[in-house]
Amino acid sequence: MKAKRQKKPRINKMAIFKDFGYEPHPGQVEVHSSRAPRRIVACGVRWGKTLCAAIEGLAAALEPNERSMGWIVAPTYDLADKVFREIVVIAHEHLQHRIITMRESDRRLVIRNLSGGISEIRGKSADNPVSLLGEGLDWLIVDEAARLKPLIWESHLSQRLIDKKGWALLISTPKGKGWFYDLFRKGQSNDRHFQSWNLPSTSNPHLDAKVINEERNRLPERVFLQEYGGQFLEGAGQVFRNVRECATEDWKDADPKGIYYAGLDLAKINDYTVLVIIDHSGRVVFTDRFHRVDWSIQVARVKAATDRYNGALVNTDTTGVGEPVFEALRTAGVRCMPYPFTQKSKAALVNNLALMLEKNDLALPKPDLWPEGIDELEAFEFSVSDSGNVRTNAPSGYHDDCVVALALAAWIVKRRAGRPSITWL
Ligand SMILES: Nc1ncnc2c1ncn2[C@@H]1O[C@H](COP(=O)(O)OP(=O)(O)OP(=O)(O)O)[C@@H](O)[C@H]1O
Ligand SMILES: [Mg+2]
Repeated sequence: MKAKRQKKPRINKMAIFKDFGYEPHPGQVEVHSSRAPRRIVACGVRWGKTLCAAIEGLAAALEPNERSMGWIVAPTYDLADKVFREIVVIAHEHLQHRIITMRESDRRLVIRNLSGGISEIRGKSADNPVSLLGEGLDWLIVDEAARLKPLIWESHLSQRLIDKKGWALLISTPKGKGWFYDLFRKGQSNDRHFQSWNLPSTSNPHLDAKVINEERNRLPERVFLQEYGGQFLEGAGQVFRNVRECATEDWKDADPKGIYYAGLDLAKINDYTVLVIIDHSGRVVFTDRFHRVDWSIQVARVKAATDRYNGALVNTDTTGVGEPVFEALRTAGVRCMPYPFTQKSKAALVNNLALMLEKNDLALPKPDLWPEGIDELEAFEFSVSDSGNVRTNAPSGYHDDCVVALALAAWIVKRRAGRPSITWL
């Protein structure tokens, strides 16, 4: 499709790429050559998206200009750092003489551009929308864009480009059909402001086709099609199905004769402590969620809630917080058992929860009563790590403490139902 042009570039990008020792593959050439003000690259994992974007950003910073400002944004600082680090490495190797300031810890690189002007590149996280306020931008790169929470693009990013008529390059592996899909579709339409590409991982000639084929055999088909095929599929990487269908209940006070179980995920550094209490039939009757507070307060809060539910037995993930908290719970009179987390034991916990939800063995609070829990469950996903392992986890920027607490509670319900004679304490 023919795209509306950005203002005429004043540098020969391909010559610069050569200086960097970068030879774009044919898909990357198309992206670099496009002059559409909004470019959307929705391609499979390892396609070369991050490298392509990093080089494009650095080339933009070299353009003659009195002053220019470009941002690299991603859902988290870790992800933004991936692009930023590529830029820093190339700048270090090939543009040492142009570097004015390079502070990786501040995610800020200032270079002297080809006309002797000053160009700045900054790395930002969409996790922290306050940091997205402010200046007008000449260009903007968004990596892992499909994982950005909705409205970040519209409310915080796109208007940064208006003043200076800046361009944006949004790159991502597809993930469902949210706002990123809508932008991608615009790029396929007659809107000449937008241009988009959708290519599988196999179009990166630097990847080993044999390895990709092995992945095809290893991964659930829909996950493979999304991650390596680059296809926009609804719910493809979703681990928990049937969540909304299970979310029909109100909170429920304790029945004096009822038997209750609980799952407890204790806050680590940045997350929440979550307690989920479930009755013997698998109905979630109570949840509590609070930011990290003093351990003594957490223990008192858990004790008060479990006391209200007839001394519910608490399955606890103690990983990362250690024995002392667990002991404090026991000393306070909370009936609790530890669930040691390893990769294998966590996978078993997640699988059990997925199965129970699929079979309607759990009844969850309605979405408006427990929005954070329902959101976390629906967002929890399969992902392919850099080393190629398939994992289940919360996407960047999301928490998983409600999921873990629910899974821990569901685990005891399941075990109790299956082996009624077992005693825990
Ligand atoms: N034009 C190229 N020349 C040489 N190697 C390349 C090229 N493009 C990509 N690669 C290599 O392919 C691999 C994947 O690249 P990159 O990390 O940029 O892909 P990605 O699409 O961002 O992957 P992910 O989905 O994991 O984020 C890297 O090892 C990268 O160095
Ligand atoms: Mg990448």
